[in-house]
Amino acid sequence: MNTKVIDCHLQNFEPSRLTEAADCLKQGGLVAFPTETVYGLGGDGLNADASKKIYEAKGRPSDNPLILHIADEAAMDVLAKNVSEDVRKLMDAFWPGPLTIVVEKSDIVPKETTGGLDTVAIRMPSHPVALELIRQSGVYIAAPSANRSGRPSPVKAQHVIEDLDGRIEYILDGGDVDIGIESTIVDMTGDVPMILRPGYITPEMIRDVLGKVEFDPAIMGQDETLRPKAPGMKYTHYAPQGELTIVEGERQNVVAYINDMVKEKRTEGFKVGVLATKESAALYDADVVLSMGSRAEPITVSAKLYSCLRDFDTEGTDYMYSESFAGDSLGNAIMNRLLKAAGHRTIQV
Ligand code: TXA
Ligand code: MG
Repeated sequence: MNTKVIDCHLQNFEPSRLTEAADCLKQGGLVAFPTETVYGLGGDGLNADASKKIYEAKGRPSDNPLILHIADEAAMDVLAKNVSEDVRKLMDAFWPGPLTIVVEKSDIVPKETTGGLDTVAIRMPSHPVALELIRQSGVYIAAPSANRSGRPSPVKAQHVIEDLDGRIEYILDGGDVDIGIESTIVDMTGDVPMILRPGYITPEMIRDVLGKVEFDPAIMGQDETLRPKAPGMKYTHYAPQGELTIVEGERQNVVAYINDMVKEKRTEGFKVGVLATKESAALYDADVVLSMGSRAEPITVSAKLYSCLRDFDTEGTDYMYSESFAGDSLGNAIMNRLLKAAGHRTIQV
């Protein structure tokens, strides 16, 4: 299959540019598109065959449900049953934006899209290209992140090309995304709202609106006996090819430890990388030192994280060491992704 890339950068975006891609979606084809979080791989969410094609193109296990992307709030009542007041409050507060809400599915949503579940995950993205694609196609777009399963989510069109060229019909190139990690998922089907995946919308922000919220205890993954409630969270995502270790502690101890390890691994003949920040990058001496941006602006870090992980693969580093980012709210979401990439390999110094 020939994959066509369409320029949809916002500076000179014309809605008519994506009409052929919208028609393709309508007919059951697959279109990758930018959102404010990461690039999505879209298909018609009410068409079971299109959903199957998504799983095939990604190489994704079919028990891992897809998120439905909508462009107007009325779609919630078409796709979901028993929509509560609290769900409406979340929609008012955070849509369009990086919050995915899990609700009871209506009968028109096929089980192929929900991985066999009776619930469905729904989100209204804020990216103008995503919204335009949903509107023009007239479909509810089922879209996982547009990476091959096990690779970091794509934060630019080039990443989608690397993973899916020749496997899907269209890629809409909107340039770099803003947030760079996937949406927050909140499950509204239980007694208390529960965060299944941390993201840009923090537990504090949700508590401000609803007065209560819990965190799926399996999320940070320290306790391996717990099973995450979002099926996709159980897979080792985002794993780079080399071995990544997160180093926690006082800044000077972290820098000293990492530089020691780099020296040791290099004398053993390995290529070594360091994942650092603007504040610290100059302090490291390694084969590849990547800065994710400034600690003072966590969104610059989230926006660059997946690019850096892909860059390590391109460079072919055997061992990578990263600073830690726990602490503030977006930091927790960054840390969640980093821990998965490291297979939870952390060291305290
Ligand atoms: O930011 C995002 O959410 C991006 C963009 C493209 O919108 N999409 C995304 O999709 O990250 P994906 O498929 O990579 O991740 C969806 C996650 C998976 O962990 C899946 O298990 C969970 O959402 N999920 C989907 N439906 C669910 C449901 N009914 N109940 C619980 N978890 C669900
Ligand atoms: Mg994904």
